[in-house]
Amino acid sequence: MNTWAASVLTLYPEMFPGPLGMSLHGRALEQEIWSLEALNIRDQATDRHATVDDQPFGGGPGMVMRPDIVDLALREAVNQVDDQRPIIYLTPRGCPLDQARVRDLADGPGAILLCGRFEGVDQRVLDAWRAEDVSVGDYVLSGGEPAALVLLDAVVRLLPGVLGAAESLTEESFESGLLEYPQYTRPASWTDRQGNERLVPDVLTSGHHGRVEQWRSEQAEQITRERRPDLWQRYAKQDEEGQE
Ligand code: ADE
Repeated sequence: MNTWAASVLTLYPEMFPGPLGMSLHGRALEQEIWSLEALNIRDQATDRHATVDDQPFGGGPGMVMRPDIVDLALREAVNQVDDQRPIIYLTPRGCPLDQARVRDLADGPGAILLCGRFEGVDQRVLDAWRAEDVSVGDYVLSGGEPAALVLLDAVVRLLPGVLGAAESLTEESFESGLLEYPQYTRPASWTDRQGNERLVPDVLTSGHHGRVEQWRSEQAEQITRERRPDLWQRYAKQDEEGQE
């Protein structure tokens, strides 16, 4: 079995594995389904003050991570000559991460994740290493670390042996191109704190498998249409093409 290898370059290595040391991901780490190495970028600093950043050329607020220091950190991560892992720089400026890219990454040997702080990383070192810019959403985090945790969470759960049959992937959001239908469990009648009795939709307790499937796909379509017109358009187009 090949271990999926993650190397994270960060100024805060203590943030790893963090939540990924628990539950399914933690067990998979122990079982060596994946490995995680958190490298401290500051270890590559060459001066007495362990400087990793400097002011931006052209002026402006904040500090930029120095290309020479980040380069040394990347060399440390890429220790084998035939390291095929993509280098991913987490930035709100990156291409949005989606389930298709997550699946691709899970099919590969691993990833080298570069976490920026401050105003970002000098562009030259990103160009020189052909880093792929990836964003986890249209909002700004204080650094790439939580984004790296998000990416790793999404990838690792797809690795063979991480999810049991109980946590099957087949009916998940995005796997079909639609958001997921709502779920219900016992008790069938539940009273909320306003005293309203809330029942489970009849169809789910009907025992009629075909009608359940029909109801679920209608719900998935409706929720996707309302919440994510972008996903809905893509789905509807694929459906049309499928019928041609
Ligand atoms: N760093 C800061 N914000 C980020 C985001 N939204 N995605 C990825 N990396 C980030």
